[in-house]
Amino acid sequence: MTITLEELVSLCKRRGIIFPSSEIYGGFAGFFDYGPVGVEIRKNLLDWWWDFFVRQRDDVLGLYPAIIMNPRVWIASGHVERFIDWIVECKNCHGLYRADELLEEKGIKITDYSPEALSKLIKEHNVRCPSCGGELSEPRKFNLMMETYIGPIKDETSIAYLRPETAQAMFVNFKLYVTYARNRLPFGIAAFGKVFRNEISPRGFIFRCREFEIAEIEYFIDPERANDCPYFHEVDKIIVKIWTKETQKKGEEPKEMSIGDAYNDGVFSNMWHAYWVGKSLEWFSQIGISLEHLRVREHLETELAHYALQTFDIEYYFPFMGWKEIEGIANRTDYDLKHHMKFSKEKLYVPLSGRKVIPHCIEPSWGVERTFFAVITEAYTKTSDGRVFLKLHPKLAPYIAGVYPLLSREPFITKAREVHKLLKKKFTCYLDVSGSIGRRYARADEIGVSFGITIDHQTLEDDTVTIRFRDTREQIRVKISDLVKTIEELIEKWE
Ligand code: GAP
Repeated sequence: MTITLEELVSLCKRRGIIFPSSEIYGGFAGFFDYGPVGVEIRKNLLDWWWDFFVRQRDDVLGLYPAIIMNPRVWIASGHVERFIDWIVECKNCHGLYRADELLEEKGIKITDYSPEALSKLIKEHNVRCPSCGGELSEPRKFNLMMETYIGPIKDETSIAYLRPETAQAMFVNFKLYVTYARNRLPFGIAAFGKVFRNEISPRGFIFRCREFEIAEIEYFIDPERANDCPYFHEVDKIIVKIWTKETQKKGEEPKEMSIGDAYNDGVFSNMWHAYWVGKSLEWFSQIGISLEHLRVREHLETELAHYALQTFDIEYYFPFMGWKEIEGIANRTDYDLKHHMKFSKEKLYVPLSGRKVIPHCIEPSWGVERTFFAVITEAYTKTSDGRVFLKLHPKLAPYIAGVYPLLSREPFITKAREVHKLLKKKFTCYLDVSGSIGRRYARADEIGVSFGITIDHQTLEDDTVTIRFRDTREQIRVKISDLVKTIEELIEKWE
């Protein structure tokens, strides 16, 4: 059954997943807090990302950078000048809106994101202020960077920026990482952490926040070997809907094709770019997002960020708000390294057999909130009899097991405590003794607990317990002494 945004938002609050920040003061638009369940799922998601893209590879090195950097970084990177959205102002009530969003919300297709084209569409379709119906101004630039002051004096000289991406830390530390990577190419740097953007209209629950977490890789390649990716066979058979800029401009639908065929057709700027799109799809599919619900959309020229030669968004189909970007994979070329060389006067290249190579950079960049949002949307399952459960992979589940005494009295409770103590050493698990067993199962299902372990009358006789499977509600009986091994095997075999 289809899920509504209201149902999901309500579940998230009721079950301690995510809720608006500072709610007793009316909240604060674009800022959210994760509750006891959400914080576990979020940590699992990020840990899985780190494991997949850093620990399981030998070509990507980690970095955990500071949020606030020397402000000159953001001048050199072009963000102070060009990290902008086009906004329009209502001439009557002075409400401010993102021009592209106003158009998209009215179902108006945009094939050119320049201010002139946005203005033309607004006039052609007579788009008015959504709040008072007033006439809208011409689009003007709005910089998304949040500012703060460093030191005791608050003036122009002490302005610093809350980072809007982690990428710049990887560029400014490049020289160090060339030595950590022992002067070879390709290599990548991975970083994650909070970023801040002064979004005009935060909306769509956690889709557009003002504070969110990003997880990014800057993957540096030799431009002379941009089509020489030894791992391409890992991803070339992945089939997905791809929407190139040409097909978008012609008004055609995305075409289903393999990453290999799309690369051979010249869709991607190079083979490494195609590889990182494929690798991202592989990861999304591992964390439980069906490829059927994903598509790859190329940015139009007028939509590209100032640093990008070509960008593909991976979009997820949210049943309640349509296709939305959850990841961007850009070819940033040598744009950033060259700009930092110019501004810092440092030499940012890799010495390679007599050549001084300024690498090109492919950047897969995930928003943790949006990926989290897609994961729980995908996992949300409502059966025809009204049962709700989150079909989460055990690696993402907030708890692997819930332990329940069938009756909330002795000797069931003491036995349940023993089992809980045994499992806690190996898995995330909790003990729930309150309410009927049916209610305890229902609560666990709603937050995606993988297995329910029940201590019943037979347990007291033969030291066995039942394992209940969240998705099917089937049960098996195992000896307590075999419980840890059985759960480990069930997780190992999970599909
Ligand atoms: N370093 C490249 C970069 O920052 P981006 O497309 O601006 O690229 C990367 O952001 C990802 O961050 C997006 O794909 C999206 O998942 C997430 N993101 C961007 N703005 C966001 C916002 N306001 N709220 C939540 N997530 C956001």
